[in-house]
Amino acid sequence: MPMDLQSCANVNSPKSENTYKKWLVSETMRRQCLLLVICGWVFFTLLFVLRLKEYDAKPPTLDNTVTTYIKKLKLQDESLLTDNQPTESPLNEVDSHWDTVHNERRSHLENVCKNTSLRNLAHTSLTKFVLDRIFVCDKYKILFCQTPKVGNTQWKKVLIVLNGEFKSIEDIPEALVHNHEKNGLYRLSSYSAPDVKKRLNAYFKFLIVRDPFERLISAFKDKFLKNPRFEPWYKYKIAPAIIQKYRRNRTETKGLQFDDFIRYLGDPNHKWLDVKIGESIIHWATYVELCAPCEIKYDVIGHHETLEKDAPYIIKRAGINNLVSYPQIPPGITAYNRTKIEQYFAGINKRDIKRLASRFQGDFKLFDYAEPDFLLN
Ligand SMILES: *[C@@H]1O[C@H](CO)[C@@H](O)[C@H](O)[C@H]1NC(C)=O
Ligand SMILES: *[C@@H]1O[C@H](CO)[C@@H](O)[C@H](O)[C@H]1NC(C)=O
Ligand SMILES: *[C@@H]1O[C@H](CO)[C@@H](O)[C@H](O)[C@H]1NC(C)=O
Repeated sequence: MPMDLQSCANVNSPKSENTYKKWLVSETMRRQCLLLVICGWVFFTLLFVLRLKEYDAKPPTLDNTVTTYIKKLKLQDESLLTDNQPTESPLNEVDSHWDTVHNERRSHLENVCKNTSLRNLAHTSLTKFVLDRIFVCDKYKILFCQTPKVGNTQWKKVLIVLNGEFKSIEDIPEALVHNHEKNGLYRLSSYSAPDVKKRLNAYFKFLIVRDPFERLISAFKDKFLKNPRFEPWYKYKIAPAIIQKYRRNRTETKGLQFDDFIRYLGDPNHKWLDVKIGESIIHWATYVELCAPCEIKYDVIGHHETLEKDAPYIIKRAGINNLVSYPQIPPGITAYNRTKIEQYFAGINKRDIKRLASRFQGDFKLFDYAEPDFLLN
C-alpha cells in the first residue's frame, strides 16, 4: 500500500511540478497582460482627455470653416471700406445715436408692461408655444424670437451660418431654411427647464417687429393670395373655415377676402378657430403671444421700418459682426406704407377695424406704433 502511495507520489510529482510551472508561466503572462491592459487603458484615457480639452478649446471642422469665412468677410469688408467709406465703418457713426434709440424702445416697453390696464393685452405666460418660437445659437449665446412676416427667414439664415454648416448665407438652399428637421436650428423648447432659464438669463436676446396692421396685410397676401411656399392648406382648409364663420355676404363666392380675414382676427372669440387651424396661426398671432416681450427681457427690439440700421446694430450687439452680415435689403421694402394700409382697409366696416385694433392694441402700445386712427375717421 505505501509502495503504492510512494509510486503514486513519484508518478505524480513531476506532473504536478509541470502543471505548477505551467501555472507559473500562465500567471506571469496573465500579469503581463493585465499590466498591458492597464497601461493601454491609461494611455487611451489620457488621449481621450487631451482630445476633449482640444475640442473644448476649438471644435475641429466647424472652426476651420468659420475662420476661412472670417477671412473672406474681412477681405470683403476691406474692399467695401475702400469703395464706399472713406474713413470709418458706418456702424461706428450709427452706434451712439442708435444705442439711445434702442434704450428708449426698451424703456418704453418696460413702462407699458407695467401698465395694469393693459395687463391682458401685454402679458402672456412662458408656454411651450413661446419657447417654440425662440431659436437658439449656443455657440454665440444668442436667442432669436421668430415673428413671421418680419424678415425672420434672413435671421434664420444668419443663425445657420453661425452654426457653421454653411460658409455664407448665399450657400444655404432656400428650402432648407424652413425645414426644421434639417436646418440644425434648435428651439428653446427642446431644452430642459433649468437650461431654458440659464439661456434666458445669460444669452443675447432679440426680436423684430413691424407695424401690426402692415404685418397682417403681408400675412394675408403671403398666405392667401400668393402662397409662394406652396402651402395648399391655407387655401383649401383655413380659408373655407374662416369664410364659413365670418363671411357676411352669403352670395359672395370668391375666395377669402380681406374683410373676412379682419372679422376673424378681430373676433375676441377667435381662439376656437385658431385651435382648429393649429400651428399656422403664428402668421397672425400677436407679438405678445409669440415672444412674451414683457416676460422675457429682450436686449434689442428691432423694427422692420428701420431694419437697414437695426440689422447691423443687432449683429454688432450680438458680437458676431466679424462672422456674418445680414443679407442685402432690397430698397424700399422696409418703409411703412400708409397708402397701402388705407387701400386694404378702405372697404372694411369701422366696427371690424376697431375690434381688430383692440385685439392688437398690446402690440401697438408695447412697440410704440401709432394706432391707426386714420382708418376710423
Ligand atoms: C395705460 O394704458 C392705457 C390704455 O392704453 C392708457 O390710457 C394709459 O394712459 C396708460 N397709463 C400709463 C400710466 O401709461
Ligand atoms: C354680395 O356679393 C355679390 C357677389 O359678389 C354681389 O353681387 C353683391 O353686391 C354683394 N352684396 C353686398 C350687400 O355687398
Ligand atoms: C405703397 O403702397 C401702394 C399700394 O400698394 C403702392 O402703389 C405704392 O407704390 C407704395 N409706395 C411705396 C413708396 O412703396
